[in-house]
Amino acid sequence: MGRMRTIVSDRLRLRPWQDEDAAFLLDLESRWEVVRFLGSQPTIMHDRESALASIARRRAIDDPVHGIWAITTAADGRLIGNFLLKPIPLSAGEPAGTPTEVEVGWHLHPDSWGHGYATEAASAALTDAFSRGLTRVIAVTHPDNRASQAVCRRLGMAYLGRTTKYYDMPNELFESEAVKPQLV
Ligand SMILES: CC(C)(COP(=O)(O)OP(=O)(O)OC[C@H]1O[C@@H](n2cnc3c(N)ncnc32)[C@H](O)[C@@H]1OP(=O)(O)O)[C@@H](O)C(=O)NCCC(=O)NCCS
Repeated sequence: MGRMRTIVSDRLRLRPWQDEDAAFLLDLESRWEVVRFLGSQPTIMHDRESALASIARRRAIDDPVHGIWAITTAADGRLIGNFLLKPIPLSAGEPAGTPTEVEVGWHLHPDSWGHGYATEAASAALTDAFSRGLTRVIAVTHPDNRASQAVCRRLGMAYLGRTTKYYDMPNELFESEAVKPQLV
């Protein structure tokens, strides 16, 4: 069982996925508008068994910093999306021994777009991760995914250009570094 913690912000609570969330996860991942920019061959989820298997994989992550969280509202616990912080897969052909980098990612249910929730969830989770010793995260977005690029910009992430280094596809690359403590 993972060590995944709960992360809170003004309006949101990020918590581990539970089996009871399977119907929501299926609703989220079965929508083309949610998955269309994910990976080189996006696919929608078709059944509850796949959702439960995905939840089991999410819960099995056993790491003090990484995780895949359910984003809920703080006020009433309503599910609104998915947040992840995990090692990013390299494209085929990238040299073995390339240092592992950590990516940040977000998928919200369309009912919850347009409220600043993705930015708020990521901001709280990155503050938490940086306080636990993470020094740098990256985000990659499909070149046409303007909404996700806007989240990166709202988070103050630096744009590093287009790259084919990850996920076997061209992506826009953003990074964020922990603020180093001032030397006195
Ligand atoms: C990427 C994604 C999470 C962005 O969602 P989003 O709701 O646009 O992003 P935010 O949560 O930061 O919200 C910003 C929007 O809320 C509005 N907003 C409303 N209240 C706000 C508040 N209190 N604070 C900040 N923004 C607020 C902003 O004006 C902005 O709207 P605009 O785009 O019309 O200008 C969403 O499009 C999504 O889930 N896409 C599918 C999955 C995906 O592609 N994920 C990324 C893979 S790289």
